Amino acid sequence: MEQPTGGTDRTRALQVISRATNDLSRVGMPSARVDAEILAAHVLGVPRGRLALIDGFTDNQLAEFEALVVRRAGGEPVQHLVGSAGFRHLELAVGPGVFVPRPETELLAGWGVTLITVGETVVDLCSGSGAIALAVANEVPGARVYAVERSPAALTWLRRNAGARAAAGDAPIHVVEGDATDPAVLADLDGTVGAVLCNPPYVPAGAPVPADVAGHDPEDAVFAGGDGLAVIRPVIARAAALLRPGGVFGVEHDDSHGAAVPALLDASGCFTDIEDHRDLAGRPRYATATRVADCTP
Ligand SMILES: C[S@@+](CC[C@H](N)C(=O)[O-])C[C@H]1O[C@@H](n2cnc3c(N)ncnc32)[C@H](O)[C@@H]1O
Repeated sequence: MEQPTGGTDRTRALQVISRATNDLSRVGMPSARVDAEILAAHVLGVPRGRLALIDGFTDNQLAEFEALVVRRAGGEPVQHLVGSAGFRHLELAVGPGVFVPRPETELLAGWGVTLITVGETVVDLCSGSGAIALAVANEVPGARVYAVERSPAALTWLRRNAGARAAAGDAPIHVVEGDATDPAVLADLDGTVGAVLCNPPYVPAGAPVPADVAGHDPEDAVFAGGDGLAVIRPVIARAAALLRPGGVFGVEHDDSHGAAVPALLDASGCFTDIEDHRDLAGRPRYATATRVADCTP
């Protein structure tokens, strides 16, 4: 990275960040400025919002920052480089083997949080790092939260995050190792659950994905059969079985599935109030529905 010359330490540090931004833009990173600022804040040990007030980089910090920018330019997710990802009010540990929680999923979690009441049982199917489950436990104290995940690597991160949040004072969640589509998993909760939330793998196999995703998010966290619905189909049946009448279901989906997922919910015969929701970019992103009283899942 070319070094800036002249000016105060702070000015020079901000120039270093700007040049890193340019380096990342040149290799096609869509959020180059944000990435450069997150990496700088990490190296300097300050919140990103305070970068304008920094004194400057020491030589060691500069070397560390430059090394991280090179790794980011090579496609490593910024969250892996700093070891954590923000999700609603939480900072969750992430790294190789676990899906990095995305801002669009915060909308689904937020939808759930507004509807879940104290004492309610909530199930997060396909929990990954635990993002949705832990956000619910954090924002709805008194909810009984279960997180189901199949991948051993993801479970290591999920257990670590669950432990950290419990140590921070949130109600402990129940981590369940198992297949979210298996009727035997959490069968003892069938008919009692107030909310099922799920961000499953949903990208159609073979669909192009950004370099960060392709090289770093686990394949079975991303792809779900030829049409991308291979996990959502059985998850709908599982949600219908878990929910009590009046319980709510929210499931994230591919932006090409804004009609298909509501149609699957409708076809199950177990849901009413079926609605599809858009993300902040205006793309169809998650479907929600309420469990009817009389249906056989
Ligand atoms: C898109 S990631 C979402 C993770 C997390 N919910 C989030 O929003 O960040 C999907 C997760 O589902 C897990 N998964 C895929 N198929 C599964 C299945 N049949 N049962 C349980 N977990 C599954 C993957 O290992 C991955 O952690």
